[in-house]
Amino acid sequence: MTLRNLCLFSFFAALPLAGQVTYAREVSRIVQEKCQQCHRPNDIAPFALSTYDDAVTWAEDIKRVVSAGIMPPWKPVAGHGEFRDSFALTDQEKRDLLAWIDGGTPLGDEANMPAAPPEKGEWSLGEPDLTVRMAESFTPVRGRDTYRCFVLPTGLDADKYVSAIDVVPGNRQSVHHVILYLDSTGKAEELDKADEGPGYNCLGGPGTPIAGNLSLADLGNLASALSYTLGGWAPGTRAHLLPDGVGIPLSKNARIVMQVHYYTNVSRDPDQTRVGIYFSKTKVEKPMFFLPVVQQRLNIPPGAAEHTESTNFVVPFLLDNHVINVFPHMHLLGREIKMEMIRAGSTTPMVLIDQWDFNWQGPYTYTKPMAVPAGSTVRLSCKYDNSANNPRNPSNPPKRVTWGEGTEDEMCVAFLGVTLDRFSPLF
Ligand code: HEC
Repeated sequence: MTLRNLCLFSFFAALPLAGQVTYAREVSRIVQEKCQQCHRPNDIAPFALSTYDDAVTWAEDIKRVVSAGIMPPWKPVAGHGEFRDSFALTDQEKRDLLAWIDGGTPLGDEANMPAAPPEKGEWSLGEPDLTVRMAESFTPVRGRDTYRCFVLPTGLDADKYVSAIDVVPGNRQSVHHVILYLDSTGKAEELDKADEGPGYNCLGGPGTPIAGNLSLADLGNLASALSYTLGGWAPGTRAHLLPDGVGIPLSKNARIVMQVHYYTNVSRDPDQTRVGIYFSKTKVEKPMFFLPVVQQRLNIPPGAAEHTESTNFVVPFLLDNHVINVFPHMHLLGREIKMEMIRAGSTTPMVLIDQWDFNWQGPYTYTKPMAVPAGSTVRLSCKYDNSANNPRNPSNPPKRVTWGEGTEDEMCVAFLGVTLDRFSPLF
């Protein structure tokens, strides 16, 4: 569009007569792009928004949650890091949705309807290249928190790079989080054999060597030595692909050790969770590793309505890197989590979530990988509300809270997916 056309276009679009928002022309497209990834049959949202009738049925609720900024549940605050695949509404989209509802939800001219998106089935990125699952279903024992590790062989006969993972929980009510560790040593299988029933108890971690899952077969293979996880999943995590040229190393010798955190307050029906793996389709130039930036020395006094904990991580000499994505994590008392890079006296925001919600977590991938040179300080701050006024406070009356894996403990961590600038430890 030339500048002149653009001016004409904006001029006409601003005319009130041309401005009636219809489902066929505007709303269907907004819903397709920003709502249907969750509001579709058998996904995490409680109802589908597939058709005009669906949208009309839910119009009043849509108005309420969209005005309040509750839906779509995109958490990072604009201006603090720029992320790919955002499903936040633009100001224009928000105005259009609300105008459509206030204007009586007109259908408009059906000829303007967009083509239906391709049917993706239960995996949001389409059929995975490899699906692994628990060998048999597992029923967590009664109690609030169970951490169970399941060893999932991949059957791969060649080393691979992973571009995305997706998780389909067998029981959406009890599966609270999933972390996919990698183990090439055989240790996880030993632990599994020693523990009765499917999987083994792994509160605190998988019990496999984390600093490199090095086996003899992996010696000289730095990439798989550094690769101890494929990442994690928590309620609300949406799968998405890494940028071209970047992949997470997956050695053919590695077993995936899937740690599942079950929270059996609502349901303790059997679970058989599946993991979908998408391999990199383009040549990988930069393997990606996960670097946790953590403050474990938490001490959150009972009753404190605004308590902040923070930590500084200084990037070591020679380890200049690019940050591909960031996965912030706290539990129920979390209110705000913020990360910034401080370098030569200037501060660059990396991510800010100012209305933390345990139910909406995931990795956010930068539109452009962020250069974090050696010597930079990465600062992480976590703010908590441990007062009795916090409706999410799991303890009544509030109690002193420290670091821990239990839902009633807290965490302050952000996992950075990084590639190293100077070293390229390829397979
Ligand atoms: C990332 C997944 C996701 C996206 C994207 C999403 N929703 Fe939702 N939506 C949910 C889930 C899950 C719920 C169930 C309530 C909850 O757990 O918060 C929900 C609930 C709702 C509700 C009912 C809320 C209530 O309080 O009764 C409405 C209305 C709604 N969504 C509208 C939308 C609209 C409109 C969009 C797009 C503009 C959208 N959602 C985008 C996942 C999503």
